[in-house]
Amino acid sequence: MTSVAGQANYFRVEGGNPLQGEFRVQGAKNAVLKQMAATILASGEHHLHNVPRIDDVDIMSELLLSMGIRSEWAGEDHLVVVTPPASEIKPLAAYELVEKIRASVVVLGPLIARLGNATISMPGGDDFGHRPIDMHLAAISELGAAFSTSHGYVEGKAARLRGANIALEFPSHTGTDNVLMASVLAEGTTIISNCAREPEVSDLALMLNSMGARISGIGTSTLTVEGVPELRPAQHSIIPDRIDASTALGAVGMNQGEVLLRGARAEHMEMLLRKLGELGLEIRPDAAGLVARSAARLRAVSISSLPYPGIATDFLPILVAVLSTADGDAIVTENIFAGRFKYVDELRRLGANMTTHGHHVAIRGVASLQGAPVKATDIRAGAALVVAALAAEGESRVYGSGHIDRGYVDLPRRLAELGGKVERCSEAH
Ligand code: EPU
Repeated sequence: MTSVAGQANYFRVEGGNPLQGEFRVQGAKNAVLKQMAATILASGEHHLHNVPRIDDVDIMSELLLSMGIRSEWAGEDHLVVVTPPASEIKPLAAYELVEKIRASVVVLGPLIARLGNATISMPGGDDFGHRPIDMHLAAISELGAAFSTSHGYVEGKAARLRGANIALEFPSHTGTDNVLMASVLAEGTTIISNCAREPEVSDLALMLNSMGARISGIGTSTLTVEGVPELRPAQHSIIPDRIDASTALGAVGMNQGEVLLRGARAEHMEMLLRKLGELGLEIRPDAAGLVARSAARLRAVSISSLPYPGIATDFLPILVAVLSTADGDAIVTENIFAGRFKYVDELRRLGANMTTHGHHVAIRGVASLQGAPVKATDIRAGAALVVAALAAEGESRVYGSGHIDRGYVDLPRRLAELGGKVERCSEAH
């Protein structure tokens, strides 16, 4: 869904329709991007299934191609990645691509593991504020890599990495992915403690094991990796995207109706489901996924984000949108990223009554929102604005919709299939 120069892309949303039907939950963005990087670790033909057709996957494919690794679609959600012998891989992630997608930093671990050498553009800040990679570098250094930085690039070098005991200062999600991929080919045993436990990290570990890696403790906060000399290509089906599922849950909560979330896995979002239950959303398991039903105005409940199994920071924009029309007052606290509240001013443009205080938002639920032009500043903020606009009276235009396409498979189409009035538009500017 690439944009055309001179055209502003936006989603036009007409609010006020209950949602009914089936929402197919896409494959997880924050798993597949790392799993694509993991293909660096083994030569041959990798088959990834349940891959979401999103812009970030296309950018990751471009990055891999710039290194000599080709990927192509073999079906609607089947991506084939062909990794050449190590000697033909170019271990460079250039500024132009890293700047488009922060997740590209996860090529660092596999490149150093496989080639003993990697040069990547230092990721800059983004709309959440300062996002350093110091923990990634410290952890991979413990395996024996040496890093230097110059002209905006970080270069890592190592002979074969050696297993080590690594304690992460914070359970960083991509930090864990990176050090895990670095360690699978290391000599000896690596123990990574205080690691991230997100389902997407576990899915990466499962895929690595299917390639011949020896990782145990998957799903716990300590991963133990017995290094192996080489891996084979992957055959892997990506887990469903819990953030995509939360977007549909939020939309049902705000708009009422009943929707089957096909493929949603309750065990990946237990805390979220508990909170939504406290809000008054009815959610029940179904053989095909989860069914969400909402028949009345939701109740306000305070919420804080925490690393998994806590409420994910990525759920918060959706939850803040939902709370904007819930009955009562709530405080929402963001504990992961300092600057992640830019969407609050946009929700206020829709008539929400909320104010930020440092890393808290104080929300007083209003009876209804009114449609307005608003602007998405990142993927989840954009999705939250669409969800809120679906519940607002009249028409909204959500500009910056390119952010949403980075992480969601055609969100307008999937919401329109539920009866929501959302369409893709562009205008000259
Ligand atoms: N941090 C450091 N140093 C580091 C790494 C992280 O200080 O070396 C800090 C960060 O600044 C932040 C905190 O640690 O304050 C947590 O960051 P984490 O490393 O866990 O986040 P991430 O790995 O960069 C991933 C997801 C995000 C998601 C977060 C939290 C991917 C590609 N991104 O980011 O997803 O919000 O974990 O779960 O996996 C999104 O999908 O829209 C998105 C932003």
